[in-house]
Amino acid sequence: MTRALKTRVCELLDASYPILQTGMGWVATPELTAAACDAGAFGFLAAATIPPEEVEAAILRVKALTERPFGVNFLMDAPGADVISEAIIRQGVKAAGYNRAPSAELIQRLKDAGVVCVPTCGAVKHAVKAAKLGADIVIVQGGEGGGHTGNTPTSLLVSACVDAVSVPVVAAGGFHDGRGLVAALAFGAEGIAMGTRFLLTRESPVPEITTDRYLAASVDDVIRTTQIDGMPQRVVMNEFVRSLEGKGPGARLWLAFRNAFELRRITGASVPALLRSGLAMRKNERLTRAQTLLAANAPILTKRAMVDGDPVTGCLPSGSVTGMIEDRPTCDALVRRMVEEAERTLKALGA
Ligand SMILES: Cc1cc2nc3c(=O)[nH]c(=O)nc-3n(C[C@H](O)[C@H](O)[C@H](O)COP(=O)(O)O)c2cc1C
Repeated sequence: MTRALKTRVCELLDASYPILQTGMGWVATPELTAAACDAGAFGFLAAATIPPEEVEAAILRVKALTERPFGVNFLMDAPGADVISEAIIRQGVKAAGYNRAPSAELIQRLKDAGVVCVPTCGAVKHAVKAAKLGADIVIVQGGEGGGHTGNTPTSLLVSACVDAVSVPVVAAGGFHDGRGLVAALAFGAEGIAMGTRFLLTRESPVPEITTDRYLAASVDDVIRTTQIDGMPQRVVMNEFVRSLEGKGPGARLWLAFRNAFELRRITGASVPALLRSGLAMRKNERLTRAQTLLAANAPILTKRAMVDGDPVTGCLPSGSVTGMIEDRPTCDALVRRMVEEAERTLKALGA
């Protein structure tokens, strides 16, 4: 393999290629994570949407499916973050992924146990803070990325972060092919992380009725909205998002209350724990009171589309890149063709 594709990220994560599959709630199941790892990429299991005391069983499931190392992605300010950290350490998981509200104490505990710390950031100042707190690799996600996302385009954010931190940077937001991987390397990144592209693989658990919506969407159909939970989120436009536009603050608040209680039922979090999490988020993200409540919406609405197969009243988090994706290959076929294209591109550039 071309030496340019063997970066510090491959070494730190013990992955064949500098390609990461990100921890997407409800989507990055043990099956998808294991398939991504077996393909030579590095997968993150999404733990944010699993009750904390069940995360260890999900980790064991990944271990049963693959012998490759993998990571676990979770929210450090959510109830049960310490339970998840302990499971990661006990099971010798290779890497921990996290984003908002990094906890210095939890990071130190993970690092002391030899876990590779891989936060995701959407701004240069957050990447600098993450590196100071001990990140071993920083994923930087540009505004075209799926789910909660910043405003700076990937093409501007990546080199700015590479200049600002000394740890390896992984570029996220808008990647789906080998040429994108080479472009990220040219920006100084040492790998790419992909969400939407892995959501649209054979091993993704998302029902076809929902993936069909992604495959049919054009780049213009993928919008960035704060209507769902108060924070900017990139989603495929659908009937649900369109209906929110006509809803007043009272109706949205009612929706938020209903979803907060459903979230409580699924994750087992107590009302005080949910409130603590909401308040921590409010502090960290400077949310208003109404937005704090609305924040409970996102996971439940996403579950509706990703698990229950309802892309009409559910939410479809997506990168703009879905407008460029037309197929659902296996993880193995995807990674193989990306690496082949990256090698061809590097060769052509060298010539
Ligand atoms: C369906 C979906 C769910 C996501 N859920 C999470 C999540 O639970 N935690 C998280 O840190 N990021 C989440 N993200 C963001 C991705 O991990 C990743 O950073 C992003 O998709 C990268 O951009 P791309 O989609 O252009 O590849 C999600 C993204 C999608 C598309």
